[in-house]
Amino acid sequence: MTILCMARKVLICYGTRYGSTAEVAQEIGKTIRELGATADILNLKETKVQPAGYDLIIIGSGIQAGKWTREPLEFITRNRDALADTKVALFVVCASAGSPDQCDTAQTKYLDKIVSSYPYLHIVSTGLFGGVFDFKKYSAPVRMLVKSIVKKQTEDDNLPERIDMRDWDKVRSWARSVMQL
Ligand SMILES: Cc1cc2nc3c(=O)[nH]c(=O)nc-3n(C[C@H](O)[C@H](O)[C@H](O)COP(=O)(O)O)c2cc1C
Repeated sequence: MTILCMARKVLICYGTRYGSTAEVAQEIGKTIRELGATADILNLKETKVQPAGYDLIIIGSGIQAGKWTREPLEFITRNRDALADTKVALFVVCASAGSPDQCDTAQTKYLDKIVSSYPYLHIVSTGLFGGVFDFKKYSAPVRMLVKSIVKKQTEDDNLPERIDMRDWDKVRSWARSVMQL
């Protein structure tokens, strides 16, 4: 497949607590590479990245307690000037995106609000993706709290240890669409 736009070099950087956003970032990167572009995929907790030299920068985060992780927000603030000259796309990975009655609110709270908080960014697209509950990865208090919330919402007392709400076709299709902007 040939690439339809100018973006040849793409940075995908993200913040994650439990790893599901990292896997989404990898899938976005893989899709972009299949289109013939170069993609660097970086966990912002592990690497300090200079955003110069990229045609497109994709910034993502998992959501915890209604918030983005700290690292991508710091990345945006720290690199204000460099980012202002580059096309930017944002994505989040969260439980609400996997729920039809909560995804509009999630789009507003976790993406539209971020877009309006950084008017100097040239944001070309936002992606809202379902996340993962992986109860074994959480500390005991977090597991208890999150399980009780999910049980209430799903009205299911027998939750599995892992609930994966990611829609990989949606992730890949978004990555392709961003490359055409
Ligand atoms: C402690 C905790 C708080 C969470 N809070 C929210 C929330 O406020 N809204 C939401 O949609 N999802 C929430 N989630 C679900 C996460 O966004 C989801 O598990 C996502 O996949 C996490 O990304 P990560 O694995 O990259 O950290 C929460 C999950 C945990 C464990």
